[in-house]
Amino acid sequence: MRIIITDNYEEMSKKAAAIVRNQIILKPDCVLGLATGDTPIGMYKELIKMHENKEVDFADVTTFNLDEYCKLNRENIQSYYYYMNHNFFKHINVKKENTYIPNGAAKDIDEECRNYERQIKNKGGIDLQVLGIGANGHIGFNEPNINFEAETHLVKLDKMTIEANSRFFSSKDEVPTTAISVGIETIMKSRMLVLLANGEIKADAIYKTVKGKICPEVPASIIQLHPNATMIIEKNAAKLL
Ligand code: F6R
Repeated sequence: MRIIITDNYEEMSKKAAAIVRNQIILKPDCVLGLATGDTPIGMYKELIKMHENKEVDFADVTTFNLDEYCKLNRENIQSYYYYMNHNFFKHINVKKENTYIPNGAAKDIDEECRNYERQIKNKGGIDLQVLGIGANGHIGFNEPNINFEAETHLVKLDKMTIEANSRFFSSKDEVPTTAISVGIETIMKSRMLVLLANGEIKADAIYKTVKGKICPEVPASIIQLHPNATMIIEKNAAKLL
């Protein structure tokens, strides 16, 4: 695992965006795995700037998002569908039909999960997966557990995740308690992983991910086994390393 420690959030975001841009230059029809949350916002802003400067062309790119809350309609401003369109897709030239996000409002969630997994396979798998990390060590919504869940699945969100994500909602009670998440095996099959982390609140999770033992209680620790993983960590998140 390559570790890059940056002085600040901006540098983390620029480095991450440069990796994504280079991936698209190398393979214009690549498949990107994308994350939501606060962490990648700066990276999306940089990629939008690069697109405006004609440094990167998303015309043939396909994207798969890691996760989506259950029971939120896509129009809900807290849905990851809304987040992606608002923060990224509407500002670039990716084709709408090439952007995939699990449908958390699907009637049959198990079928939605199986279908999502099939769609990823049909596109040849993920070339570059961008990840954030929860303060509890989750990646996607793969929460600390007694075993690693392999493929796209229904998740019961961890207390800590509900607490952390309540900052985006008007109250904790409004945070959905379940979600759909791409599984650990699907993430690990990505040809390249880039994990971003910033802020002291992530320091413990980063320490356990990089230096701890590989265990499902710290889902991100499995990244130690990935042959092509890069962690771009802002210095406060790296302070225990
Ligand atoms: C979101 C996702 C989550 C977040 C993580 C960190 O799609 O997969 O694993 O990356 O919860 O969230 P932030 O960046 O808001 O701290």
